[in-house]
Amino acid sequence: MPHAESPPPEMVVPDEPQCTPQQIKIIHVGMGASGLLAAHKAKKLLQNYELICYEKNETPGGTWWENRYPGCACDIPSHTYTFPFERNPEWSGYYSYAPEIQDYMMRFYTKHNLEPFVILNTKVIGATWNGDEGKWHVELERKDGSKFTDECHVLINGSGVLTKWKWPSIEGLHDFKGVVAHSANWPQDLDWKGKRVAVIGTGSSSIQMVPHLAETASNVTVFMRNQTYIAPQFGTNVTNTEADPNAMNPDAAGKHQYTEKEKQRFREDPDYHLKYVTKIERSFASRWDAFYRGSELNIAGKKFMQKQMADRLGDRDDIKKHFIPDWSPGCRRLTPGEGYLEALIRPNVTCVFNNEIAKITPTGLVGADGTQYEVDIIACATGFYVQYLPHFRITGTNGQVMQNQTEPNVYASIAAPGFPNYFVINGPRGNWGQGCALPSHETQMLYILQCCKKMQEDRIKHMAPKQRETDQLNLYMDAWHRKHSIWAEDCKSWYKDNKPNGRVYIWPGSMLHHLKFLKRPRYEHYEITYQDENNIFAFLGNGKTISQVKYGEDVPVPYIRNDEDAEWDIE
Ligand SMILES: Cc1cc2nc3c(=O)[nH]c(=O)nc-3n(C[C@H](O)[C@H](O)[C@H](O)COP(=O)(O)OP(=O)(O)OC[C@H]3O[C@@H](n4cnc5c(N)ncnc54)[C@H](O)[C@@H]3O)c2cc1C
Ligand SMILES: NC(=O)c1ccc[n+]([C@@H]2O[C@H](COP(=O)([O-])OP(=O)(O)OC[C@H]3O[C@@H](n4cnc5c(N)ncnc54)[C@H](OP(=O)(O)O)[C@@H]3O)[C@@H](O)[C@H]2O)c1
Repeated sequence: MPHAESPPPEMVVPDEPQCTPQQIKIIHVGMGASGLLAAHKAKKLLQNYELICYEKNETPGGTWWENRYPGCACDIPSHTYTFPFERNPEWSGYYSYAPEIQDYMMRFYTKHNLEPFVILNTKVIGATWNGDEGKWHVELERKDGSKFTDECHVLINGSGVLTKWKWPSIEGLHDFKGVVAHSANWPQDLDWKGKRVAVIGTGSSSIQMVPHLAETASNVTVFMRNQTYIAPQFGTNVTNTEADPNAMNPDAAGKHQYTEKEKQRFREDPDYHLKYVTKIERSFASRWDAFYRGSELNIAGKKFMQKQMADRLGDRDDIKKHFIPDWSPGCRRLTPGEGYLEALIRPNVTCVFNNEIAKITPTGLVGADGTQYEVDIIACATGFYVQYLPHFRITGTNGQVMQNQTEPNVYASIAAPGFPNYFVINGPRGNWGQGCALPSHETQMLYILQCCKKMQEDRIKHMAPKQRETDQLNLYMDAWHRKHSIWAEDCKSWYKDNKPNGRVYIWPGSMLHHLKFLKRPRYEHYEITYQDENNIFAFLGNGKTISQVKYGEDVPVPYIRNDEDAEWDIE
């Protein structure tokens, strides 16, 4: 060991066992699925912490509370739209409508006693990083307009990718004298029975609402500017006759209701239930190759879906010509669309193609060719301002404002260079394209909480991903999409900021691939600053472990074991 010319500074030796967790305060924005996970998982993983989830709405639930348009449902089977560790034997059908999913979220909230972690009716409107303190100063606004500030060491943005809904930019929209409703802000007392309804859009929201509107409206006019696929039923090979010989055939898709006997088996036999859910999940996970441009599964899937749609549209060659895409399935989010094609060919439904809406008058819509469409209700299924950049102002190191970025500068969908101790759930380049959002939500939350735990135990003041690593990762992602993915095709969707040739903002791989990458943080990709830069090993403390202090004579010695391969750790 070299001798220093002058004596080294005296090291402070804290009188605490190794890795004693230092106090940490975390603010999480939102109380949708992400907030629920933050509160639940922090209880399991962290000690000596404070967590507050600020939620702008009057209730938790996020997506499933906000979206209450007719027919709003999950696009993957209910049994797989759950937190991966929290089965729900009670699902009423193969796909569930929003209120039932909202109930599931609220049951989770109550069962795990998450109420102490949430402050409702309070919106995050800004956050500014203070590097000297190693803290975020978070600006908040209550429903009554009053403002206040809170502080935290770690800021988690779980405010949802699809929460800020978007009106179409059409002249005169708000001069309309009838009802204008957006799918994500649907008036619950709206009655469309016997009314003339216009629907704008062909995304998942439109696909789900049209059959319900067409059922009782006097007529429905669907403005179809873009094409899309209607997904076939997945998981048709997963029968449940072992639980009940009278169980419905899974082919029935959206009409498939679980019998009481099936639910009882799920309730009473968790292993059986797990097997059932695993089979359904596997039927999605194993089809990932369909997203490789030109792969066998991609070509076969495209042909199959085009044919299936054409068959269901019968003699309606006009719809077939304008609505069935040439690009690959999945380029826009695949929605099962129960009854959608059948609704489009109903006598009371008119499809409008190649006629951009030029303006809206007090009594209806006017197409670019001058055609007038007189209606009572305009239903805007026109999507969201996708959260490429956060919807609240975030100021990071050196006063840089995230919203001034020309495009998102994000590391692995979860963190951002120049914005220390900031994490985002399901950020740009996240798992937007395949399968259920919830498994990757869980994995991302565990990633973030691992970072928090490390900060607490190793006395880290701040951590932010390095720019070089972030740039290389994003270039790699671009290259992967160019080489392999169907999303690089000439199609338009919010995955690409609605630009046909735009940058693809989804993860360069399958959901499993996303989970594997995020299962453990790669700290070597982060710049790390310690609370005391001259004593970065202060966490070693007084020479004891927590377990020695806690258990005394009964201290566990877990490295003594029969099973060489058994995992062990020291507290
Ligand atoms: C109509 C619809 C259907 C969907 N269907 C599926 C599906 O079938 N399968 C699937 O995998 N995914 C689906 N998704 C994606 C869905 O959003 C995710 O599955 C999941 O619910 C996201 O949870 P989250 O907590 O990340 O975000 P959200 O559910 O959006 O929750 C975010 C919360 O943050 C709050 N918030 C936002 N901004 C602020 C702020 N500034 N301050 C305080 N609070 C704030 C919001 O009020 C909201 O409660 C769907 C999305 C939509 C819009
Ligand atoms: N569980 C589910 O099945 C489900 C249900 C709803 C939503 N979601 C999620 O939410 C995402 C968003 O779905 P979304 O349907 O709400 O939005 P979206 O996919 O973004 O679709 C918006 C639609 O509005 C159209 N549009 C916008 N402005 C228009 C105008 N001026 N004139 C004509 N058309 C106009 C768009 O046409 P262009 O494409 O031509 O711009 C597009 O068809 C989905 O991709 C999915 O991830 C899921």
